[in-house]
Amino acid sequence: VTPPYVDAKKQIHSVIAHRGASGYAPEHTFASYDMSHFNMNADYIEVDLQMTKDGQLVAMHDETVDRTTNGTGLVKDYTLAELKALDAGSWFNEKYPEQARSEYVGLKVPTLDEVISRYGTQAKYYIETKSPEVYPGMEEMLLNTLSHHGLLKKNQLKKGHVLIQSFSTASLIKVHQLDAAIPLVKLMDKGVIDTLTDQQLKTLRNLVVGIGPNYKDLTAANTKRLHSNGLIVHPYTVNTEADMRRLNSYGVDGVFTNYPDVYKRINEEK
Ligand code: G3P
Ligand code: CA
Repeated sequence: VTPPYVDAKKQIHSVIAHRGASGYAPEHTFASYDMSHFNMNADYIEVDLQMTKDGQLVAMHDETVDRTTNGTGLVKDYTLAELKALDAGSWFNEKYPEQARSEYVGLKVPTLDEVISRYGTQAKYYIETKSPEVYPGMEEMLLNTLSHHGLLKKNQLKKGHVLIQSFSTASLIKVHQLDAAIPLVKLMDKGVIDTLTDQQLKTLRNLVVGIGPNYKDLTAANTKRLHSNGLIVHPYTVNTEADMRRLNSYGVDGVFTNYPDVYKRINEEK
């Protein structure tokens, strides 16, 4: 079944703001999400999930807080209150002085609930279950949060407001068992795409609507093969104009990018 939000007659190149507009602002903060959503009008806000000691889902890429905050240690060893005391913006100013802004200092790690409250049910969310084996109950908590905001209503899902992605097939199966109507995307580690048999692609298609390959693996031929198996193709993480144009020429359905403004401009040319 073709996902209803994929128009077969029209080539769509979805702009997926990877960790927000993370080429310009600290990833997974309101600064980064605001820029992609309000200023750049990206199609999707990409959210990576981790879980706190007290069971709260937060937007963060790494299992540890070390890289993107002024703290140290595992997210799972922090309560939400402890995590909220950390500065999630200053690291960016230090690492990228040419992009630094004073308003990034002291930014907080947002919860998933806060993200959805801020951008509402008309925004589109592309949510990744990160390290699901570390966080029992992550999928249930995710669906509870989405449901609380009305994002799992059938008409809402049809409009494509939520996609759930994971490198973990087990996590995607869990989500599917909880609610088979939620569109899912299987992320693929580098090198995997061309090892998949036709049977494996068919089996995957019973679970997911699309594949998120490492962009370096994609060719015109394997993009076509994925499409002919009924799968949409959203490569990660595509940050140069040349790669964006090359991948569009293969017919990808969108890309994850730290520079949503650049991909949007390319798609709006001519
Ligand atoms: O979710 C797509 C892409 O973000 C996967 O890689 O490590 O940036 O989450 P990562
Ligand atoms: Ca991700």
